[in-house]
Amino acid sequence: QLPEKVVVKEVGPRDGLQNETQLIDTQNKIEWINMLSKTGLSYIEVTSFVHPKWIPQLADAADVLRSIKREHDITYAALVPNMRGLERALEVNIDEASVFMSASESHNQSNINKTIEDTYPVLQEVIEEALKENMTVRGYVSTVIACPIEGDIQPKKVLEVVDRLFSFGVTEISLGDTIGVGTPNEVEALLDVLLAKYEAEQFAMHFHDTRGTALANVVKSLEMGITKFDSSLGGLGGCPYAKGASGNVATEDLLYMFHRMGIQTGIDMDKLLQAALFIERQLGEPVKSKQMDIYRLG
Ligand code: HMG
Ligand code: MG
Repeated sequence: QLPEKVVVKEVGPRDGLQNETQLIDTQNKIEWINMLSKTGLSYIEVTSFVHPKWIPQLADAADVLRSIKREHDITYAALVPNMRGLERALEVNIDEASVFMSASESHNQSNINKTIEDTYPVLQEVIEEALKENMTVRGYVSTVIACPIEGDIQPKKVLEVVDRLFSFGVTEISLGDTIGVGTPNEVEALLDVLLAKYEAEQFAMHFHDTRGTALANVVKSLEMGITKFDSSLGGLGGCPYAKGASGNVATEDLLYMFHRMGIQTGIDMDKLLQAALFIERQLGEPVKSKQMDIYRLG
């Protein structure tokens, strides 16, 4: 039985922009996020408090959070990699902090410069402090299907990381197919292991669409009880530390499918497409989504 409604979490301003080399003006980011706030979305990942040397595009994280017009029923989140990131986030008040690490040792190393074992105490401290500050904390686990360096990742390896993050107090874990390799049978094998121990509500799925399998994986996840999905407007994005990783599944394509399936999202397609038009003008090239292709045909 498929759910009647789902939550779509927009990660475009963070995951979408982090890989764009062309810097977008802070004012335009603010305007874009304000447009997104009017679409009916209930969750927006606004930016990232990582080292600006690694992700120059998001060096203006604090300015963006200070200036966006917040809607009271939207959760505004940001990535927080360590205590320095949390200190920066606390100055501008976010609703949810998202910590992140990888199920693969090599991707974790290249992404956050630490072994998996050394990452745990860093994230534990961030999670505990963020909870004290009345934020909620989301955990990301990357490379849950495969790693660009190590190849296939076993579900039990993902379970190990998931166990640790839940034990530190995260309320939700977003499972990232970082390089978009997964297929529905692999998603099923992963969720079989995780859902034997945890509830479906404790997870969100974060599919990159590198090989065009994201929507199929979303349907498989829906069938297994998952009701929260990350996506990026215009299919923007990718992980700079995973070669060949392209953007997340496009929010508008996800929305089209959900609405046609009779699954509510609370999001307005037309307003969403207007926001996609806005950001593609800033980027100076068409975004890659089926809905925008159709929209351009008029
Ligand atoms: P590090 O260099 O190991 O940090 O970076 P450090 O603790 O050794 O500190 C070195 C210097 O950096 C110090 O400055 C710190 O203060 C400073 P110094 O004392 O030398 O002057 N520093 C910072 N400055 C500002 N903000 C901070 C910060 N932290 C330290 N937060 C770190 C470790 C994790 C920070 C670094 O490796 C980093 O920023 N990595 C960025 C990784 C990233 O953004 N990746 C993309 C996001 S993850 C993703 O896309 C996957 C996801 O979408 C899910 C999926 O698709 O699977 C979530
Ligand atoms: Mg991602």
